[in-house]
Amino acid sequence: MSIKKIALITGANKGIGLETARQLGKQGITVLTGARDETKSSQAAEKLRKEGVDAHGIVIDVNDAASIQKAAARIESDYGRLDILVNNAGVMLDDEKKKPSEQSLEVWRKTFETNLFGLIATTQAMLPLLRKSAAGRIVNLSSILGSIHFHATPGSPVYDNKVAAYNVSKSAVNAFTVQLAYELKDTPMKVNAAHPGWVKTEMGGEGATMEIADGAKTSVALATIGADGPNGGFLHMGETLPW
Ligand SMILES: NC(=O)c1ccc[n+]([C@@H]2O[C@H](COP(=O)([O-])OP(=O)(O)OC[C@H]3O[C@@H](n4cnc5c(N)ncnc54)[C@H](OP(=O)(O)O)[C@@H]3O)[C@@H](O)[C@H]2O)c1
Repeated sequence: MSIKKIALITGANKGIGLETARQLGKQGITVLTGARDETKSSQAAEKLRKEGVDAHGIVIDVNDAASIQKAAARIESDYGRLDILVNNAGVMLDDEKKKPSEQSLEVWRKTFETNLFGLIATTQAMLPLLRKSAAGRIVNLSSILGSIHFHATPGSPVYDNKVAAYNVSKSAVNAFTVQLAYELKDTPMKVNAAHPGWVKTEMGGEGATMEIADGAKTSVALATIGADGPNGGFLHMGETLPW
């Protein structure tokens, strides 16, 4: 069995996911760059290998149960365990011109399919492998936009940003994180929700305030927290956010 830690990052072909894989890899962790497209997953790994990272592409479409199972089977046969799961894959599909009541049900369903059900399905498939780690870590990519407290508080940083399907999917990710943290509380495992910041990626857009290198920091920190770190938290750069 490898003595190096093994990390799986979903949606690691670009954006915060690729950068998270890079930063974990630079710490000497073997990274599996998950992408729903075979070419994209291997290109991401190749890019990181050229930077000295032990990276390997892996196909994982979080909306496809067969692809999730195949990824888990490969990790089992190649490594026998998983130390870190970063549930990073996510979509924002809302029509920003529409009010919360006007977003189509199709948008709600597709958003939840990836951001919530895909995250749960991946977690369920990887949990047996994480249980074989000495200290499994799960990071769920949430968002400050998932904070119900901030959405209900006039004047908060996100009060006027009602991209409803996305926001509610991330509130649900937070709620799931708390449920799972309860289940894991008497094990060496930890699960936390991360707000990366408003980051200059395809999703974050040009107007975002954070560079990608900084946007990966919260995920990396939560993926590598020690035994004294939080379980069931919602954090950004070491600060706890309100639910
Ligand atoms: N950027 C921000 O400001 C910000 C703020 C708060 C939270 N977040 C969260 O951070 C995470 C990463 O966001 P990002 O900004 O890096 O976005 P991004 O650049 O749009 O990247 C999203 C990643 O998710 C992948 N993905 C989407 N659907 C998938 C599926 N069904 N299976 C597997 N992978 C899938 C994409 O793959 P393809 O290339 O194949 O589409 C891509 O690799 C997301 O969960 C997002 O909600 C971002």
